[in-house]
Amino acid sequence: MSIQDAYTHWSHNYDTDRNLTRDLDQIVTRQMLANYKAASILELGCGTGKNTVFLADMGQHVTALDFSEGMLAQGKAKVQHDNVTFSIADLTQPWPCPDQAFDLIVCNLVLEHIEDLSFIFSEARRVLVAGGQFFISELHPSKQYVGKKATFQQGDDVRFIDAFVHHISSFLDAAQAVGFTMRSLKEWWHDEDAPIPPRLVTFLFEK
Ligand SMILES: C[S@@+](CC[C@H](N)C(=O)[O-])C[C@H]1O[C@@H](n2cnc3c(N)ncnc32)[C@H](O)[C@@H]1O
Repeated sequence: MSIQDAYTHWSHNYDTDRNLTRDLDQIVTRQMLANYKAASILELGCGTGKNTVFLADMGQHVTALDFSEGMLAQGKAKVQHDNVTFSIADLTQPWPCPDQAFDLIVCNLVLEHIEDLSFIFSEARRVLVAGGQFFISELHPSKQYVGKKATFQQGDDVRFIDAFVHHISSFLDAAQAVGFTMRSLKEWWHDEDAPIPPRLVTFLFEK
């Protein structure tokens, strides 16, 4: 099953399944971006809009992109703010965004599904204003090293969604290659997690 189809299948239960990674990401994003003010926000892989509501309250306008019709449909139903524009877009292709249009890009739990980080950082650099920030929250690679990846339940079957392992150094190298400066790198655990490995990693890069 393609990644796109997998998410459209999962979209009906994504918000209600037990999912500590999703829940921790929501907490971490609100903590990291608390008090942040942005005029124009780009959300990559917005999914069902779990974080879009928060971004819409924080920014003047949010452009929310995703390539799954099913996830976008859930997001549109959930997020009633009139300052949000949802659009279908494949992030591995040139983004439907003008140059230097955003103060802040937010990308949560998406990049494990995208092989080429260089393209993502290059597009991010293109669409950010000078001084703009790029916030990433991802499944920690240490989890991936022990076989963890996104799964969902389809009937009696557990479905794995295709994923690529990106080391911490891969994020840093891809960012540095196009001139981003790293402002923050943090590792995160859910209250129910064992001491190792960390569940999430977040980065804040500045153009
Ligand atoms: C685990 S969900 C995360 C959704 C949301 N960001 C959140 O934190 O709840 C991953 C999302 O990335 C989207 N996605 C994965 N690969 C993509 C691509 N190449 N282009 C656009 N969206 C993609 C999926 O459709 C899905 O909605």
